[in-house]
Amino acid sequence: MLIIGHRGAAGLAPENTLAGFARAVELGVDGVELDVHLAESEVVVIHDERVDRTTNGVGLVRELTFAELRRLDAGDGQRVPTLNEVLDLVPEHMLVNIELKGVGTAEPVAAIVGDLASGAQRGGLPALLVSSFDHRELRRFHEIQPSVPCAPLADRWCPCLESTARALDAWSVNLSRRVTTKAHVDAVRSWGRRCLVFTVNDPVKARALRGLGVTGVFTDYPDRLVDEPASRFSSSASSRCSS
Ligand code: G3P
Ligand code: CA
Repeated sequence: MLIIGHRGAAGLAPENTLAGFARAVELGVDGVELDVHLAESEVVVIHDERVDRTTNGVGLVRELTFAELRRLDAGDGQRVPTLNEVLDLVPEHMLVNIELKGVGTAEPVAAIVGDLASGAQRGGLPALLVSSFDHRELRRFHEIQPSVPCAPLADRWCPCLESTARALDAWSVNLSRRVTTKAHVDAVRSWGRRCLVFTVNDPVKARALRGLGVTGVFTDYPDRLVDEPASRFSSSASSRCSS
């Protein structure tokens, strides 16, 4: 099963910071997940639409200039990174899952990943996966960059996810663990899609999800899951794509 560092390694280092992504990489994750908003025209990596919870500043990300945002402390002296900085840091063999949080992020993210031309899959594991709870924003992204794998996010179950997944030619459907039942995993797999689950910090729950046929989990504590022998597909990249 794929182990994906959630917001880097949010339980171990300040979330969505270069230090957090570096920590996840050190721990040997298969990939990292991050959240993006826009500050002026820059794609920046931060979860909330406000800076208050994760930095020493206040206000809406979209109302700050990029320079103002970069002066903030995102924890342990870390700055709010740009998407490009994170893509530069994460080794090419690892998945980067970009979650479109902010309105209007589809076009600028498509421009960045298009320039990198890194939507290609390596041994079945994509270099990039673009996801969102905002399925319209995700459709916009897919229309611009159809070769980059997409994943609709859902924290509630809806049979309509099938048509959403089909319209996006989704690589996976990413479900909250609260709605991840065997029936729902079976349904997603019957649509020909993988199922990724967020956010899983307990190794016992991770093992149970693996038993349900889940392809990967997002975790704040990669240190708890990466050493679980039964939780990995295998050490070879070519076999990590099995669903
Ligand atoms: O992409 C999975 C997960 O990150 C979605 O929830 O709120 O942590 O962004 P959230
Ligand atoms: Ca996220």
